[in-house]
Amino acid sequence: MTTRRKLVVGNWKMHGSHAANADLLQGILAARPFVGEVAVCVPFPYLSEVAVTLANSSVAWGSQDVSAHAQGAYTGEVSAAMLAEFGCRYAIVGHSERRAYHAESDQLVADKAKAALAKGLTPIVCVGETLEQREAGETEAVVKRQLSAVIHTLGQCIGEVVVAYEPVWAIGTGRTASPEQAQAVHAVLRAQLAAATPRATEMKLLYGGSVKADNAAVLFSQADIDGGLIGGAALKAADFVAVARAAG
Ligand code: PGA
Repeated sequence: MTTRRKLVVGNWKMHGSHAANADLLQGILAARPFVGEVAVCVPFPYLSEVAVTLANSSVAWGSQDVSAHAQGAYTGEVSAAMLAEFGCRYAIVGHSERRAYHAESDQLVADKAKAALAKGLTPIVCVGETLEQREAGETEAVVKRQLSAVIHTLGQCIGEVVVAYEPVWAIGTGRTASPEQAQAVHAVLRAQLAAATPRATEMKLLYGGSVKADNAAVLFSQADIDGGLIGGAALKAADFVAVARAAG
């Protein structure tokens, strides 16, 4: 049996300020060591100060998006090369908020993952169904379609990514997928990955969607759940630390 080290990633979304970030990061740093790996994905303007605060710590950092393009006339976009200069380790791609509010297609998400990998960042590829899709029995088809675009674009390199299953109906709603529901989808995703790469058993598959201190341990103990992508509970050090400890 492969033992995969757990990974807990805070997705700060569009939250933060100099003062709030400093408090949050100090609280996280003070709680070290963690048994699993811990990372925070922060808004672009704060990357440089977060990089300084977390330098030489065991806490990694990343972005919440990355351009699919290497460079050029793409106003407002941030390239993987720029992120790499800050020592970024991760780049979230295809979060459902970006798919929904910025019309990101499966192929664009796959191209972003490719651009991130090309500069040494680990993409955290998000997939997940809406409530309507779940109720129509389409969950498996939707997440497989989303992941398949990334598999086709990356080929063998798919083994380098982290995948996050985030049911849209569970994000920010307080409604979490049950451990069984989440595990069932994770098993589908791991089987799909296994058909594409021998590294599937080593790959980290995160669950995201209203993960909190009181439900994290049971979610993270499922066979194919290797940690979490945490939104609301990543904004207060005590909450985030409690979730990170649940991955121990
Ligand atoms: P949530 O967000 O934990 O607030 O549900 C998770 C996410 O969107 O990554």
